[in-house]
Amino acid sequence: MHGAVNTPSTTRRLPDEAATAALGAELAALAGPGDVICLTGDLGAGKTALARGFVRARLGNVEVTSPTFTLVQIYGEGEDEIWHVDLYRIEETSELRELGLEEAMESAICLIEWPDRLGGDLPADRLDVVLAFDGESGRIATLNGHGRWQGRP
Ligand SMILES: Nc1ncnc2c1ncn2[C@@H]1O[C@H](COP(=O)(O)OP(=O)(O)O)[C@@H](O)[C@H]1O
Ligand SMILES: [Mg+2]
Repeated sequence: MHGAVNTPSTTRRLPDEAATAALGAELAALAGPGDVICLTGDLGAGKTALARGFVRARLGNVEVTSPTFTLVQIYGEGEDEIWHVDLYRIEETSELRELGLEEAMESAICLIEWPDRLGGDLPADRLDVVLAFDGESGRIATLNGHGRWQGRP
């Protein structure tokens, strides 16, 4: 994915859900333990679709559902441990502490939907992906790498 994660930001057109999943798969090839990818966008923008493509690229054809109610779904183990987090329904930051998200952000791969719920409490090293609607079934992804995600090839 050459140049796709460079500063200040890169945009990518995603004409259909498969393209969104494919972007997730590309990011999966770049990520490892301790990496945090923040997925921002309105309901239905494709955050979970991207996460599904990411998880399946690393772990095969597993079922990936939205962790809206469970807040977190954990896939894989070791180098492939992936936390798929959805903070939409979080009410108090104490819930985050109970989840153990802080520790997970250091040891696992974390894909975080609704990262704005963390306030400013995001790691300095992260990739921000913003998904916006583009026509009937298209989406536009804007990628912004921070810290060690900056200029990642
Ligand atoms: N280009 C696209 N990328 C991602 N999803 C798309 C796209 N076009 C249509 N869709 C549909 O939009 C919905 C996205 O849902 P989801 O990934 O759960 O969104 P979010 O997690 O952002 O709320 C799915 O029903 C999917 O089939
Ligand atoms: Mg979702």
